[in-house]
Amino acid sequence: MHIETYHADRDALLPLFELADDSLVQVRAYMSLGEVLVARAGETIAGHLQIVGTNATGVFEIKSVAVRETHQGRGIGRRLIEAAVVRCRKRNGHRLIVSTAAADIGNLRFYQRQGFRMYRIVQDAFGPSSGYPEAVQVDGIPLRDQVVFERAL
Ligand SMILES: CC(C)(COP(=O)(O)OP(=O)(O)OC[C@H]1O[C@@H](n2cnc3c(N)ncnc32)[C@H](O)[C@@H]1OP(=O)(O)O)[C@@H](O)C(=O)NCCC(=O)NCCS
Repeated sequence: MHIETYHADRDALLPLFELADDSLVQVRAYMSLGEVLVARAGETIAGHLQIVGTNATGVFEIKSVAVRETHQGRGIGRRLIEAAVVRCRKRNGHRLIVSTAAADIGNLRFYQRQGFRMYRIVQDAFGPSSGYPEAVQVDGIPLRDQVVFERAL
């Protein structure tokens, strides 16, 4: 398994983008932006990570990251994050941000294990007005609020 920059048609990565975000409207709006890293073993792409710039100089955002369900729990997500950190440092980045649903306890754990700190909550970020289905729950918690994490580079 190695991590490399992805240059091919991003539509091939749609299932991974959709694994990371329940809103196809949102995914379609951003999936062409920035750069994408993939974890590849031969012909198999096991995971992806998308890095986009922000309005602030030196601040990058992980806009999407996912590992195929069959390949989760083997350290691939961690390796994708580390590759993103290396890539953003090379681009003179000093801060990396990423956001996830407050309802997704597993993701809250994953990002904190990768050295991210929470710094902002956006209430009601996920709802029909932003393209998310109504009354979605994650482990019994309503999908509603967003947690924004940061990591110094
Ligand atoms: C989140 C995700 C990318 C993690 O990838 P992964 O390859 O399974 O993660 P790793 O094997 O590298 O795990 C790294 C650490 O995070 C922990 N972790 C990962 N997913 C976790 C989860 N759902 N619940 C609890 N801990 C989790 C691992 O246990 C591991 O902990 P350790 O450092 O104590 O060993 C993957 O689960 C995924 O694709 N999820 C669905 C898409 C998604 O939610 N993307 C993020 C949207 S914001």
